[in-house]
Amino acid sequence: MIKYAILGYGTVGRGVAEVMAEGREKMSALAGQELELGYILVRRDFPGDSYADKMVQDFSVIENDPEVAIVAEVMGGTGAAYEYSRRALLAGKSVVTSNKELVAAHGSELEALARAHGASYLFEGSVGGGIPILRPLYQCLAANRIEQVFGILNGTTNYILTAMDAQGQSFEEALKDAQALGYAEADPTADVEGHDAGRKITILADLAFGQNLNPQDVPTQGITGVTAADLELAHALGYTIKLLGRAIPAEDGCLVFVAPHLVPMEHMLAGVSGVMNACVIHGSAVGEVVMYGPGAGKRPTASAVCADILDAAMHLNGGKTMGLGQPGGRVAPEGLLSSPWFVRTGAGPELLLAQFPQAAPVYGASRECGFITAPMTRDELEASLGAVEARAVYRVLA
Ligand code: HSE
Repeated sequence: MIKYAILGYGTVGRGVAEVMAEGREKMSALAGQELELGYILVRRDFPGDSYADKMVQDFSVIENDPEVAIVAEVMGGTGAAYEYSRRALLAGKSVVTSNKELVAAHGSELEALARAHGASYLFEGSVGGGIPILRPLYQCLAANRIEQVFGILNGTTNYILTAMDAQGQSFEEALKDAQALGYAEADPTADVEGHDAGRKITILADLAFGQNLNPQDVPTQGITGVTAADLELAHALGYTIKLLGRAIPAEDGCLVFVAPHLVPMEHMLAGVSGVMNACVIHGSAVGEVVMYGPGAGKRPTASAVCADILDAAMHLNGGKTMGLGQPGGRVAPEGLLSSPWFVRTGAGPELLLAQFPQAAPVYGASRECGFITAPMTRDELEASLGAVEARAVYRVLA
């Protein structure tokens, strides 16, 4: 019998308990031993809950129970989650998690601790919710030189952009719905300002390029500035707007950033709606691979965490890790990347065409116009704008 514990009983914690119970027979058969829930670590009582008899409020009960071999940390944050993950690994227990904030900030150190103690540290659920992304990247595509990774990595913001675009909902209404559906972080600022996607692209960049980066060095722009006028003009030009995380190897380090992009309507990312996420990987041998599915939510995220519990159960002798790099990777300046740009402006046609003779502007209801530039760096764009006042500027995915 292999005992596991769940740390946290929020949306994902409940999902893990539920999905593990449903899959118990199949997973135990795959593990070769019965998988049994030992404890759930909670911060308060849950009277009447069907798992009330498994609940403890003191982590040391789990830490000191030699029968507990696997700990699923789904508390979130980098405070108690970090301390308990460390203590579990030091006690030789495997840790699995969906906590991207912790993995992005301390994953390399926690992996090293796992290796030193013959345990596993696995975090498939930290990127893309229920979509298998990390194993395909570090394992199935291991023979490739990865040329770039990019995608829609936050379900809440994709839900909001889709609702604003397709249903004309306000930002606030759409955010409220995403929170009610359990997609958003406890503090949704991390979603809407792009920090959550920033942590995920940091993890992907590490597994793709071996560059362990400080997530705070990754430039992030969220979706709070995206307006109905931007969406209207983007449509008229044949694009939609998506929040993308991107990672591209550079001469010294890698270009990693999060920003709203105009995505051509015919690009497959344009069709990724609602809470769905999609991740595109370019490999030197395989070409382009796309992974698509539910990027947030109780059961999809639990699906990934539960598979990690099983994988840890199958590697109790020696442990398994995913191969994060050593800290010290360098984020190259995002502005160096050349791309076409979308500009929304109130400038008149004469001024506009004087600065951008090739521009083919489209006009929206508010008499503002939008146009797409030739490919250039951010500095080149700023120099080209001259007296043209840009009210919004977004990269175009080319
Ligand atoms: N808040 C995150 C999202 C949860 O919306 O994508 C999944 O990581």
